[in-house]
Amino acid sequence: MWKKRQGMRTCSTGSRNLDKLLGGGIATQAVTEFIGEFGAGKTQICFTLCVTAQLLLEKGGLDGNVVYVDTEGTFVPDRVAQIASVLGLDAHKVLGNIFLARAYNSSHQGLLIDHLFKFCPENNVKLAIVDSMIGHFRGEYIGRETLSERQQALNNQLHKLLRLTEAFNLPVVITNQVQANPATFFGDPNKPTGGNIMAHASTHRVYIRKGGKGTRVATVIDSPSLPENKTRFKITEKGIEDVQEGTEDAET
Ligand code: GTP
Ligand code: MG
Repeated sequence: MWKKRQGMRTCSTGSRNLDKLLGGGIATQAVTEFIGEFGAGKTQICFTLCVTAQLLLEKGGLDGNVVYVDTEGTFVPDRVAQIASVLGLDAHKVLGNIFLARAYNSSHQGLLIDHLFKFCPENNVKLAIVDSMIGHFRGEYIGRETLSERQQALNNQLHKLLRLTEAFNLPVVITNQVQANPATFFGDPNKPTGGNIMAHASTHRVYIRKGGKGTRVATVIDSPSLPENKTRFKITEKGIEDVQEGTEDAET
């Protein structure tokens, strides 16, 4: 097992600080979950990773192709092209190395995940993204009586993703929204959706919240190997990048 762990790689997020928080970047052999409210920047992180994963190993990438399972129809190729161009890459080529799969409902999402076990090794895929993991489940299973069925189906998909990361030494990135708990009087009323199933299946959970002046704060909230630290980044034409310390942005 130790030997296998030595083969672990990381993929840069574009922000050095966020990479540091994650122990070098998004790790292979793990499911990394980004959690946050709408507009937090989860999809922007995914877009940046679509580009950085294609970089050579010595440039912080994984030197491979990307699968993007889009469940909400929010993949914007122009934005990915912009990030690629700003990073000095051929945007056309970068887009050509991203396999986009639109999932139309939760069972379709399950079929796509099943297919990854064949698709990833055959197409030199080094990163798989599911944005968002739980959107369809929330929309389809309404009411308390369907909860256990929903959690079972979700659990099944999450465990397949975890198996995928181990079988092919690649990272899986998933996104998740937060749900307001109206019964909260003190502290943050928002909590990640998906309950315990989601919490246990993800290896690393990272909470993103909006900071002042357009910055974002990322906090590791659950991980077997990372300390519960936080850091700041911002969304720019480069995708995501560091906030320069000592500037006005850093103080908010
Ligand atoms: P949901 O999917 O709704 O849960 O949100 P999300 O967390 O995926 O948010 P997303 O990643 O879509 O972030 C949206 C934010 O990114 C917007 O509020 C913008 O501030 C920022 N953003 C989007 N596109 C650009 C861009 O081209 N340039 C810059 N600088 N910022 C952008
Ligand atoms: Mg999104």
